[in-house]
Order: sequence, then structure tokens, then C-alpha cells
Amino acid sequence: MSENRSRLAVVTGASSGIGAATARALDAAGFEVALGARRVDRIEKLAAEIGGQAKFLDVTGSGSVEEFASWTESLGGASVLVNNAGGAKGLEPVAEMVEENWRWMFETNVLSIGLMTRALLPQIRRSANGHVVIIGSAAGVETYPGGSGYNAAKFAAHAIKENLRLELLGKDVRITEILPGAVETEFGLVRFGGDKERAETPYKGIIPLTAEDVAECVRWAVSLPPHVNVDRIDVKPVRQAGVARFVREA
Ligand SMILES: NC(=O)c1ccc[n+]([C@@H]2O[C@H](COP(=O)([O-])OP(=O)(O)OC[C@H]3O[C@@H](n4cnc5c(N)ncnc54)[C@H](OP(=O)(O)O)[C@@H]3O)[C@@H](O)[C@H]2O)c1
Repeated sequence: MSENRSRLAVVTGASSGIGAATARALDAAGFEVALGARRVDRIEKLAAEIGGQAKFLDVTGSGSVEEFASWTESLGGASVLVNNAGGAKGLEPVAEMVEENWRWMFETNVLSIGLMTRALLPQIRRSANGHVVIIGSAAGVETYPGGSGYNAAKFAAHAIKENLRLELLGKDVRITEILPGAVETEFGLVRFGGDKERAETPYKGIIPLTAEDVAECVRWAVSLPPHVNVDRIDVKPVRQAGVARFVREA
């Protein structure tokens, strides 16, 4: 674990759920952690708790991303980038698609990866042990009714991982995609505009993954020796075998 000491890990969307748990897990694994998100109060609190650093970040804006990258440069440069910020909005079929929701999903889950990776790759390449992680989704390789906007965004995130694997070949930068199934976070609240009842429905009758379960996948992949590239990790609750295939307790 001590090999991680002095490696700076950037976690986007570190104010909640998987991002917050990843920041904690990487700190515990010896990384210096730089947390980014829009809700600065939350990331500052978490950074103070773990001895990390926090800065406002809107992953959908190139200005904000560039400013963030200058800041991580001043901290010594990033070695690991965890592209975690993202989420879903709505569950409408294509025939009733809500333009605003699709734009949000494409910008937050897809454009963000391009902007963040473009800005941080020079620092990551300079580090002896560079690694880009994408928090994709099981919805990035399998569709479900009503999932179209989110599916399209996460399929795109999956494609970017495949592209990056080819583009980074020979440059000694690792790339890993984590594809979780159902994880209990604020994801459902965001998807359903704060409707708690709808947000909790997917987790009924199963034991969902926790944010910590996914964070552990990230920690493991980035802590392996530099010659080991874990291309992707599919991780789901034991009672989930597909994006819409659950066996639930009555
Ligand atoms: N929960 C699941 O079942 C599940 C399953 C598969 C994949 N995922 C993926 O896992 C990732 C994390 O989601 P989560 O489940 O942990 O949900 P979450 O608790 O809602 O966290 C989402 C995070 O994304 C950040 N974010 C959203 N828009 C942003 C922006 N424009 N700029 C910067 N940060 C932004 C939020 O921070 P601010 O609002 O403070 O900016 C928040 O920290 C997402 O990519 C999601 O698609 C989740």
C-alpha cells in the first residue's frame, strides 16, 4: 500500500455516494486525494475529515475543469483520475424523451469524461503510475425499458473507455471501467427529482451494493502493480443478474 503514498488521486463527484466512498477508500490506501464537486460544503467537510483537498468542480464546463486541472498541477499533478460524477434523470421511453434530461445526462456522464481526461492526461502521463478510472454502469452494456437516455450516455462512457484503452496503449497509463448494478446512493433521488418513494423502489427486496462496495473495486484496481490493467469490473448485488433482472424477497 505504501507505493500509493505520494500519488494524487482526483475523484469527481466526491460529494456523495460512490465518489465520497472512493475518496475515503483511496485515502485509506495511502493516496493523496483531491475531491471535486459542485456542493463545496460537502467536499470540504469530507476533505477535512480525511486530510484531503477539495475544490469546486463542474465537470460539464471546460472553464471549471481547466481551473481544477491547474489546481491539481499546483498540488504536484494527478496520478489517478476517477471519472465518477454522473447520474440519471427520468425513466421516459424515447417517444416521450425529455430534452433537458438527455442533455444533462450526456453532459454529466459523457462530455465530463472527455473534458476531465483531456485536462488531466498530461499530469497523469507524467506520473510514473498513471491511471484513468471510469465509473460506468451495467446500463452501459445492457438496455432496459425507459433507460434510453441513461443507457445511451453510459454506452458512450463505455465506448470512451474502449477508445482510451487503444489510445493509451504504449503510453503506460492504465484505464479501468467499473460497471455497477444497483447501488444505494442519492442516484434515485436525482433520477426522480427528489421523490423518495420512487427512488427507493429499485432496492426493495434485495440487498443493494453500497457505495463502499464499488469504492473497493476502484481501490483494488488502482493499487495493483503498474503493469496490471484491469479493463473492466462488472459488479452487482447477488440478487441482480441483469439491469432489469432481480429476484426480490416478498
Ligand atoms: N447508484 C447506482 O445504482 C449506480 C449504478 C451504476 C453506476 N452509477 C454511477 O455512479 C456514479 C456516481 O453515482 P452515485 O450513485 O454515487 O450517485 P450520487 O450519490 O447522486 O452522486 C453523484 C455525484 O455526481 C456529482 N455530480 C453531478 N453533476 C456534476 C457536475 N456537473 N459536476 C461535478 N459533479 C457532479 C454530484 O456532486 P454535486 O451535485 O455536488 O456536484 C455527486 O457527488 C455516476 O456516474 C452514476 O451514473 C450509479
